[in-house]
Amino acid sequence: MADLVNDIQLKPVPAHVAIIMDGNGRWAKERGLERSAGHVEGVTAVHRITQAASDMGVRYLTLYAFSTENWNRPQSEVDALMHLISFALERETPSLIANNARLEIIGDIDRMPDEARRRLDNSIKATAHCTGLTVVVAFSYSSRWEITRACAQIAREAAAGRIDPDSITADTISAHLATAKYPDPDLLIRTGGDMRVSNFLLWQIAYSEIFVTPTYWPDFSTEEFAAAIDNFRGRERRFGLTSEQINPAL
Ligand code: IPE
Ligand code: IPE
Ligand code: MG
Repeated sequence: MADLVNDIQLKPVPAHVAIIMDGNGRWAKERGLERSAGHVEGVTAVHRITQAASDMGVRYLTLYAFSTENWNRPQSEVDALMHLISFALERETPSLIANNARLEIIGDIDRMPDEARRRLDNSIKATAHCTGLTVVVAFSYSSRWEITRACAQIAREAAAGRIDPDSITADTISAHLATAKYPDPDLLIRTGGDMRVSNFLLWQIAYSEIFVTPTYWPDFSTEEFAAAIDNFRGRERRFGLTSEQINPAL
């Protein structure tokens, strides 16, 4: 038993944490505020959790900030979010650099207004030399968009004779996704309590551990983030095998 406890304590922090940052609107509504006030408060949570992830030694933090489907929200909310996200990332850039954290984006950013896109590009360039935590913001992102694009690309390469269809493996697919450079998430966190994945990293979360909390994103604290990490470290990941295969000492 002592060995088992030791073993659990020795499990490493997840290398890649992905977060569905949900509940901003409900947070605001409960306070009689506009939904956009929830998004503004959500930015402070992004700052807090990015800092915590960097301090804990997480290597990749992927944050679902805006989905392909979110473009269909009322125009006023979309405009407020574009403005907020690009300004917030610009404002956070010095603190990212101070933490040696690099900013990257996955998603269909060509749909973004030019001015917001320009700010985003500047932040990406300004942090490109950083070698600590990689913060991947999923923006105008959806997994079906990403997988569809990957299929089209693979089909083009096959048609051009550069890929042999018989040699396509799961790795070929992974290598054509927007996340090709990153390991799959070890831990997926969703705030706001809904038990769904909302078109986020469908391929990549095949074996991710899932942690759902009812806490709305603006209220998600460093302590609760640390508790989610601790919870992850206590789990046994079997990847389809048996417990004995994973841990022959048992
Ligand atoms: C998540 O909060 C942020 C975005 C989707 C941009 P929501 O705005 O979805 O908040 P709820 O789910 O309505 O509370
Ligand atoms: C998921 O939240 C997308 C983001 C957090 C950016 P949504 O609020 O858009 O998801 P649904 O509509 O509840 O599934
Ligand atoms: Mg939501």
